[in-house]
Amino acid sequence: MSPSEMECWLREADQARLEALWGCADAVRREHVGDDVHLRGLVEISSRCARQCLYCGLRAANRKLTRYSMSAEEVLACARQVVALGYGTIVLQAGEDPGMTQQWVSALVRRVKEETPLAVTLSLGERSRDELAAWRAAGADRYLLRFETSNAELFGRIHPPRLAGAPSRLDLLGWLRALGYEVGSGVMIGIPGQTYADLLADLLLFNSMKLDMIGVGPFLPHPETPLGMSCEMAAPAGEQAPNTELMTYKMIALARLVCPQANIPATTALATVNPSRGRMLGLQRGANVIMPNLTPGRYRAAYEVYPGKLCACEDPLTYDREVRRQIAALGRTVATGPGQSLSYRRRATPVLQERVAPRGV
Ligand code: 5AD
Repeated sequence: MSPSEMECWLREADQARLEALWGCADAVRREHVGDDVHLRGLVEISSRCARQCLYCGLRAANRKLTRYSMSAEEVLACARQVVALGYGTIVLQAGEDPGMTQQWVSALVRRVKEETPLAVTLSLGERSRDELAAWRAAGADRYLLRFETSNAELFGRIHPPRLAGAPSRLDLLGWLRALGYEVGSGVMIGIPGQTYADLLADLLLFNSMKLDMIGVGPFLPHPETPLGMSCEMAAPAGEQAPNTELMTYKMIALARLVCPQANIPATTALATVNPSRGRMLGLQRGANVIMPNLTPGRYRAAYEVYPGKLCACEDPLTYDREVRRQIAALGRTVATGPGQSLSYRRRATPVLQERVAPRGV
């Protein structure tokens, strides 16, 4: 599909015509990654954050938020629950918590890898190359770091840097890949000032980066943040990308077309805008991953990236039964095992062969 066709789909309002896009994304999903749906256990391990991102409820200046950091033992208990539920991956997510040192995370990853069969995905923000390398060496398999928008000027406006001259997220994503991580990124949809052309550029960047995982979700205004309080930054009418459920499905579907082999979740933000059907519609429009929230109940409400975040009340066992029933009702299957992306497996295999070949094995 050409970029101009993609931009037409981004602007398409006719529900009947959009059925063709959903059908196409669903067919490409089935052909490349099959009917398996991967379930990942998401554990939000710390709500502390040193950053001041203009949209995020965890921003350091939000004094109304309760801050917590889980102990290693608490995280291990969650990991055992992920195993008991039959999921193959634990996703450890946090704000940029300076108290979460390289050594602490390394030791945690090592324990999870030693004590469980789980794949470990980290989502701990912008960290140094040394930290990322140490965590990979400790056994971390994947890393998620959204670039949020490919529009560098807009990115700069909403992300006050912590350190001048720090590497860009795109630099970090390149390093993650070179370190052998399976790499995930993504964007928010409908950031004030973000245009349709920006979303098209995001899709083209997904494609040129050959991402293994792509997560997208609508921007949801948080009242305790600068972007949640004013609409001053919006792009001119007709250009501003809407932060809607529909726009999110379009981005999921187009992400599937530009990266057919990627693992693409139906995200929590999507489930927040449509609690009863968002995730299942995402699965029918290109997605193949769901990340049930396994953060202990006492911490859930405090990880308020945006308000009304679904799952604040989602009990893991109840949700597990429900999601399995819904996946079966779609005629899909629940995957077993770690669930690496096809793009990563294709990339990893030749490297393995190269290493083995010189020894004549
Ligand atoms: N609305 C929607 N998504 C948000 N995120 C952070 N704040 C918001 C918000 N207000 C997303 C960002 C981040 C991910 C962990 O949560 O894309 O990468």
